[in-house]
Amino acid sequence: MTGRGLFVVLEGPEGSGKSTLAGPLAGLMREHGVEPVLVREPGGTRTGEIARQALLDPEHPVGALAELFLYLAARAELVSSVVAPALAAGRVVLSDRFSLSTEAYQMAGRGLPAEVVLPANRAAAAGQRPDLTLILDVAHDVGRARQLAAGKRLDRLDAESAEFHGRVIDYYLAVEGDGVRHLDGCLPRERLLQAAWAEIVRAAPERFAGNGGR
Ligand SMILES: Nc1ncnc2c1ncn2[C@@H]1O[C@H](COP(=O)(O)OP(=O)(O)OP(=O)(O)O)[C@@H](O)[C@H]1O
Ligand SMILES: [Mg+2]
Repeated sequence: MTGRGLFVVLEGPEGSGKSTLAGPLAGLMREHGVEPVLVREPGGTRTGEIARQALLDPEHPVGALAELFLYLAARAELVSSVVAPALAAGRVVLSDRFSLSTEAYQMAGRGLPAEVVLPANRAAAAGQRPDLTLILDVAHDVGRARQLAAGKRLDRLDAESAEFHGRVIDYYLAVEGDGVRHLDGCLPRERLLQAAWAEIVRAAPERFAGNGGR
């Protein structure tokens, strides 16, 4: 169970704008007197950063099952040492990716069986569920073109085939459920920020509905 805090997760394929959105969203939260705990996956702990290096290095081959467990090891550590304590203390946690990424990349993308991925994924999250998941929808060629334009060095996952990324994107597009909202990742940045902020205010009006410092 999520504690008294608020858990907001940004999801979506490569280059969809998650990391770009996180900073300005955090800025709007601060304007409303809330200092969020910002995390990114994989990472956010020493164990997680080591896993990140192993996972993303394009020179370092990793099998699908090892990849799954490296992501989950990073998440388990992040949840137990950062996310769960912050939520229990009533903080707002803003995470760049969470469990849904594992479903999209390791289950849909890699084709690992659901009966392996889903229980392990649940175990790693240790009962922490996002209150709000914002999925940024963009086509693969849009995300890839943005990464190339920005001169990003493609990591091991970025460099996967168009078919792999197609399966990831199709999975994201089909996700629905409590607390899941799809946003058009092709919106200009400021409009995307407004759309994301509107969802956050709707999810937690008691924290954010006022004008804040604006
Ligand atoms: N709304 C937008 N419109 C146009 N370009 C954008 C938008 N948002 C982000 N970008 C640009 O797209 C590129 C990828 O953005 P970003 O790194 O935030 O994506 P990401 O979802 O975090 O990707 P990754 O999964 O690789 O971490 C960056 O160069 C960024 O400046
Ligand atoms: Mg990013």
